[in-house]
Amino acid sequence: MISDSEIFKAKILMIDDQRENLDLLDGILRVHGYSNLLFTSEPLEALGFYKKHSPDLILLDLNMPGLDGYQIMAQLKIIENYAHPPILVLTGDSTIETRKRALQEGAKDFLNKPFDQIELLSRIRNMLEYWLLYKQVLDQNKILEEKVQERTAEIQETQLETIQRLSLVAEYRDDDTGMHIKRMSQYAAILGKTSGMKEEEVKLLFYAAQMHDIGKIKVPDQVLLKPGKLTPEEWEIVKSHTVLGARILSGSRSKLLQLAELIALTHHEKWDGTGYPSGLKGEDIPFVSRICSIADVFDALTSKRPYKEPWPVEKALAEIKQLKGVNFDPELTELFLNSMDQVLTARKQYKN
Ligand code: C2E
Ligand code: SIN
Ligand code: SIN
Ligand code: FE
Repeated sequence: MISDSEIFKAKILMIDDQRENLDLLDGILRVHGYSNLLFTSEPLEALGFYKKHSPDLILLDLNMPGLDGYQIMAQLKIIENYAHPPILVLTGDSTIETRKRALQEGAKDFLNKPFDQIELLSRIRNMLEYWLLYKQVLDQNKILEEKVQERTAEIQETQLETIQRLSLVAEYRDDDTGMHIKRMSQYAAILGKTSGMKEEEVKLLFYAAQMHDIGKIKVPDQVLLKPGKLTPEEWEIVKSHTVLGARILSGSRSKLLQLAELIALTHHEKWDGTGYPSGLKGEDIPFVSRICSIADVFDALTSKRPYKEPWPVEKALAEIKQLKGVNFDPELTELFLNSMDQVLTARKQYKN
């Protein structure tokens, strides 16, 4: 509801070419508590006045030299294509035609001069109540809209967190701290950025990379956690984590999950065409997967895995260089080696 104090504070603009009419209106309104009164006897200045002060109600004379009341209403409609404050027309011309035309052209209500004070005050009050309520609803809609946007951002954060936690479910089995995923996705993001990907794409890559091994959830413990070398049968099972992961992630409308599906499927393809599951070669391997492959192997080498001890960084770097052009895209390998400062900083940050 609109309180009395809001009503009496509302801005009322009076437009009449005759000063004495303005003085009369001003006097009546002031006596009855209205305090925010603006008036002009220059019709040509009325619109400038309107724009400057954004009144809540307009009291408008119809017959004026220069610009009459109809023309002012027409221009108001152009200025405010959505909604303008209510207009109360006050005129000495009481014919039916005039009333009709005034209402048609945008007046909310109509009073003949000389007007009855009580009637004038009651109409002004009604119109102000209507307009202030309308403005309140508009404000509330705006607040609601902002809240919805906040909620949407929150949901996205929650979704990303859920994805990270689910990725960890698969990862915890052969990496009990889950740090492999954290480091690997950091390295992938660093390489993505260095290789010129846009910020938004790097962010997608960062989250999608965390799901690269989600298919391991289907690899039995006795294989995944086996301390020694795998039998050929076991190796076939391990290799299927790519296809299984892609299947888990497939069919989504989300760009993030589509990217994750692609990475899950192709992160073990090798530059020379000897990787799995498809034996893709060179630039047929998706760019993001060429990035993830380097990030993944560097972290596997420098970390403890169920089947191997961690290698010193120097030894791992020598291995990465050996694998340039064999497992890895040669240009991306160089970029990765050149980003070693950032990579090692991230490695320190996510130490087991
Ligand atoms: P992972 O342990 O996360 O290793 C990821 C990738 O790092 C490997 O993919 C491989 O490309 C690279 N990598 C790891 N250790 C070495 C290494 O000593 N030398 C070189 N050059 N590269 C290494 P890959 O080979 O496709 O293996 C996929 C997954 O299969 C591994 O993920 C791991 O879960 C499993 N796996 C591989 N070899 C063995 C093994 O001997 N025993 C067991 N239990 N699991 C294995
Ligand atoms: C695997 O693919 O199962 C291990 C290699 C990786 O971390 O992607
Ligand atoms: C395998 O165990 O056969 C693969 C290990 C590797 O490529 O490093
Ligand atoms: Fe993998």
